[in-house]
Amino acid sequence: MIRLTDVRKRLGGREVLSGVNLTVEKGETMAIIGYSGTGKSVTIKNITGLMSPDGGTIELFGRDVTHYSPRQYAEVRKRIGLLFQSGALLAWMTVFENVALPLREHTKMTEDQVRARVMEKLALVSLQDAGHKYPAEISGGMKKRAGLARAIVLEPDIVLYDEPTSGLDPVMSNAINELVLDMQKALGVTQVVVTHDMNSAYMIGNHIAMLYGGKIEQAGTPDDIRRSTNPIVRQFINGETAGPHAVR
Ligand SMILES: Nc1ncnc2c1ncn2[C@@H]1O[C@H](COP(=O)(O)OP(=O)(O)OP(=O)(O)O)[C@@H](O)[C@H]1O
Ligand SMILES: [Mg+2]
Repeated sequence: MIRLTDVRKRLGGREVLSGVNLTVEKGETMAIIGYSGTGKSVTIKNITGLMSPDGGTIELFGRDVTHYSPRQYAEVRKRIGLLFQSGALLAWMTVFENVALPLREHTKMTEDQVRARVMEKLALVSLQDAGHKYPAEISGGMKKRAGLARAIVLEPDIVLYDEPTSGLDPVMSNAINELVLDMQKALGVTQVVVTHDMNSAYMIGNHIAMLYGGKIEQAGTPDDIRRSTNPIVRQFINGETAGPHAVR
């Protein structure tokens, strides 16, 4: 469903991704973990065509999309929901209009249908009463949840989440984790979740992959990762300051 083969990407004079291999099967949730600045967001951007790799291939839905034109990619992207790390709401539109935007752009839904779908998704992220507010009037966590509602409003086959729970309180984090789990279990959506939060990764990932030094250091089931003997993985999951990864 999603396959990255030897993906390379140079940015700012540095090879950020230096041969990433990653397969996400249809209907599974892959959690990507890794230190800040290792290229997790860059990986997501390459999958969605917002950045194109310098080398390697990206396959989505069984098709090689690596050299797709922006127009071809736009077709594929309709089937992919993306939650940006920042939420990325348009400041001049209300929460409701932000979430409605993909429906207005990509479907011929009537106003009533749009309203029903948007309210359904806002309720999923507990924002049913915030539709009339502007991004500047809501908290960071609410922006994130509004971004999530927008990511899933077209009911895509693939959803990519960049740090869905960062900046949320523990209860709301768990609610979002449950939402991600439901997306997979009830709707069979294929998902990639970038997260720093090991609790989230263990809870929602069928597999977990750690990105380190531009490559996937280890990928496996939550149990494989929990019991990993790889010192780089161990240091990360235990949050140790001493280890192979130098802390400045
Ligand atoms: N457009 C860009 N131009 C130049 N460098 C970039 C660009 N985008 C990302 N980078 C660099 O690529 C590296 C990886 O960035 P990325 O945003 O993927 O990190 P990340 O793993 O998502 O980190 P975080 O956990 O902090 O979100 C960083 O060193 C960053 O400065
Ligand atoms: Mg990031």
